Amino acid sequence: MKTHKIAIIGGDGIGPEVTTEGMKVLDAVAQLEGFKLERVVYPFGSEHYLKTGELMPDSIWEELKGFDAIFLGAIGDPRVEVGLVERAVIAGIRFKLDLYINLRPIKLYSEELCPLKNKTCEDVDMLIIRENTEGAYMALGGIMKKGTPDEIAICDMVWTKRGCERAIEYAFEVARKRDKDKKVTLIDKANAIRAMDIWTRTFEEVGERYPDIKREHAYIDAACMWMIKNPEWFDVAVTANLFGDIITDLGAMVQGGMGIAASGNIHPGKVSMFEPIHGSAPKYKGKNVACPIAAIMAGAMMLDFLGEAGGSARIENAVTTILKEGKLPSLDARSGHKTSDVGDMVAKAVTEVSVGV
Ligand code: IPM
Ligand code: MN
Repeated sequence: MKTHKIAIIGGDGIGPEVTTEGMKVLDAVAQLEGFKLERVVYPFGSEHYLKTGELMPDSIWEELKGFDAIFLGAIGDPRVEVGLVERAVIAGIRFKLDLYINLRPIKLYSEELCPLKNKTCEDVDMLIIRENTEGAYMALGGIMKKGTPDEIAICDMVWTKRGCERAIEYAFEVARKRDKDKKVTLIDKANAIRAMDIWTRTFEEVGERYPDIKREHAYIDAACMWMIKNPEWFDVAVTANLFGDIITDLGAMVQGGMGIAASGNIHPGKVSMFEPIHGSAPKYKGKNVACPIAAIMAGAMMLDFLGEAGGSARIENAVTTILKEGKLPSLDARSGHKTSDVGDMVAKAVTEVSVGV
């Protein structure tokens, strides 16, 4: 039987609860589709750091390369220095495994969930490609004369030709495969940050090789406006790391909230990492109230990456049915449904949906 090896890092707060539900659904799908998910659960996160002083051991990077995919819950704990564990675990995995694509679908599954007036599910259906290994996240810089009136804080944003190129190429490739407008929008801020001209030029150069795909350009500020005013204008959009981080939270709200937004940190052909976009929500930890749908959808993305398109479609269809039928009044901790019950609901629904791949 086909077996996929998964490394699970539940992480902090609600992370372990939502990944458990994600795996519950994945196991149900595996049974139906005839594959196996072999797993190793890792303890990394803030709790582990507080107990042992260990963030990510040096040996882990080689070890992770032995898996087909990584399934991550969430990282973040107010008891630990801001960003320390997030940078070690989330950014660590992205950088050390060179997961240069952060793929963030923004898709509305039920009109009830959209905060925008008069927008339909057809209007909100886009893919944001966030460059995932460069820009402000390279953490080049630092703080000098800290705590004095002369304090200086520096953070360089770095973009390489190859880094822009590979993200942009990926965007054109997915636009070609998608059944929408055959369009890629570049989002940058080259009017104010002139170094970002590397994005603008590279986009045109790469775009020349895809004559069948339309090209559009938007500055990040305008893109935020269009995302709310005319989300239907977006098909595939590609952007730098920090902008992609910000605009996908905006996008998550347009598709119904952080309770449904999922992402894939991808290096095609190599071990890649899948996670919900939401954080660890420490106040809901262990209460069995967090919505696991985003983690479940991250699981669907993971299956697609693993070549299990049928299984992935089953999950997406099951979630769509549940949402369209109004079985989940909201996608947050106030839905009135337990985390584990939502997991059960989806695990049951995947057995019932028709699978149109
Ligand atoms: C995300 C998160 C991370 C990011 C944080 C936790 C470092 O916000 O995945 O979007 O900024 O990339
Ligand atoms: Mn973010």
